[in-house]
Amino acid sequence: MARNNPYKHDVLIIGSGAAGLSLALRLPEETQIAVISKRALSEGNTYYAQGGIAAVLDADDSLDAHVEDTLDAGGGLCDEETVRFVVEHGPENIQWLVDEGVGFTKEQASNARHHLTREGGHSHRRVIHAADSTGRVVESTLEQKIRVRKNISLYENHNAIDLILSGDPKPAGNRCLGAYIMDTESGRVDTFQAKLTVLATGGASKVYLYTSNPDVSTGDGIAMAWRAGCRVANMEFIQFHPTCLYHPHAKSFLITEALRGEGGKLLLPDGTRFMPAFDKRAELAPRDIVARAIDHEMKRLGTDCLYLDISHKPAEFIHQHFPTIYSKCKKFGIDITRDPIPVVPAAHYTCGGVISDSRGRTDTSNLYVIGETAYTGLHGANRMASNSLLECLVFAQQAAADIFSRLDSTTTPQEVPPWDESRVTDSDEEVVVSHNWDELRRFMWDYVGIVRSNKRLARARRRINLLSHEIREYYGNFRVTHDLLELRNLVEVAGLIIQSAQNRKESRGLHFITDFPKRDEKFQRRPTILIPDNYNPE
Ligand code: FAD
Ligand code: SIN
Repeated sequence: MARNNPYKHDVLIIGSGAAGLSLALRLPEETQIAVISKRALSEGNTYYAQGGIAAVLDADDSLDAHVEDTLDAGGGLCDEETVRFVVEHGPENIQWLVDEGVGFTKEQASNARHHLTREGGHSHRRVIHAADSTGRVVESTLEQKIRVRKNISLYENHNAIDLILSGDPKPAGNRCLGAYIMDTESGRVDTFQAKLTVLATGGASKVYLYTSNPDVSTGDGIAMAWRAGCRVANMEFIQFHPTCLYHPHAKSFLITEALRGEGGKLLLPDGTRFMPAFDKRAELAPRDIVARAIDHEMKRLGTDCLYLDISHKPAEFIHQHFPTIYSKCKKFGIDITRDPIPVVPAAHYTCGGVISDSRGRTDTSNLYVIGETAYTGLHGANRMASNSLLECLVFAQQAAADIFSRLDSTTTPQEVPPWDESRVTDSDEEVVVSHNWDELRRFMWDYVGIVRSNKRLARARRRINLLSHEIREYYGNFRVTHDLLELRNLVEVAGLIIQSAQNRKESRGLHFITDFPKRDEKFQRRPTILIPDNYNPE
């Protein structure tokens, strides 16, 4: 079912995590804004963030040190100018959150100072947090603010399908006019027109069988932008978080890196500590190193998990700093004040994404991208812990300023074609969709995971080609459903990950390939850029 009257707004923001909500709140109250969310407003990676947000907030720390640590974790692939830009804008963005009412944890001794924790790769304590549920506190605070803003219309349970582009891109280049969006409750597809459109749809880690991410993280924004002619970069750098709870009923629950920052030790099943043999920073080495060490030890010992132990700390300290993890583990019969926690790595973060500039602009005019969906050059080959929420905030701030400066001179698009489903019917083979979902996520885990090889990537490529063909056919013939839309995007993004991994003939950061086990200096500072066939910038 399609609706004929298009919705019209000044700004269409697709995504309601830290990036989307902070952008909406930073725009003037006269601007008519639509915020689209695939499920409930709060459902997205932001809500589940634990550790905190990195920023230079302590007099003993320095902007240079934060820049240095980020560059080091990024394995020679960060864009230094971007890193400095983000780090410099860190403190004012934290202050913005505090002003919005986010209650960060205070030092026990001094109620005036915020407590700063530590995570992998950071040479100082610089991670501001709300105990171990920073994301929940940030998201809920922003949500409360947004729900009372009269200029912001919220569309929950709405799934953006594709961007609407100006008909003939030549010679002016692709221009975005809005998006086709499905109301998932009624199945109706609506046309949303806007002067400016923003993708803030989060990451793509659901492409893997095991992930710390919630179900919405299916790479939709990356896939939509790619189909709309935008270039993507560094898609091979998928970050695997070293420590997710291993339990048959715990759906990839994260055990924050801050637990290691506060003294947690990684142990083999016999109780031996192993990280010092892999890196002098031991448990606080950057994530790529820790995840690979765990993977190596699990394969060497043929064991299903390893252990993370904080039980040597006083129980009171554990209750105070890690209340969420304590109660979650307790539900599964693990008392973290006494027992080591069984852990495994899982896909966690998409370091690459849609190429954007310092204002969040993309290759397609009138289209912005911010947050985990974007590639800004900040993370390089491996994102440093807690730099992601920071990136969401800083680029939302920059995009808001740029959008504000352009709103008066940008016109609302004229007629746009309505969604056309005159040639499709209801599917009688939903099993194809669920089967392909499972198959995709399993072979991505097995062949394009923590350790890759030419042979495994080639296998994955053959399978993705077949799936792409099947999905294209299915999409062309049947009425769209929520699962089909997500699968179509997952297959698109998986193809980009595989292609990027095949292009990078070296090992660096999160991309480890046994055929090229060393770093190759000729790839230094060279992001992997993929260009779509319809690339035609303004
Ligand atoms: P998200 O918060 O993921 O929001 C995406 C939004 O887009 C959602 O509203 C979703 O519904 C919507 N959406 C997606 N597709 C569509 C579509 N087709 N149509 C409509 N809407 C759509 N980072 C840190 O810096 N510090 C941490 O401590 C930290 N801890 C983490 C812990 C966990 C368990 C996880 C999973 C991630 C963590 N990260 C952390 C990473 C960080 O949380 C994310 O990178 C960040 O929150 C991304 O924010 P975002 O706004 O870009 O996307
Ligand atoms: C964590 O708390 O370990 C996650 C932090 C992050 O992903 O930045």
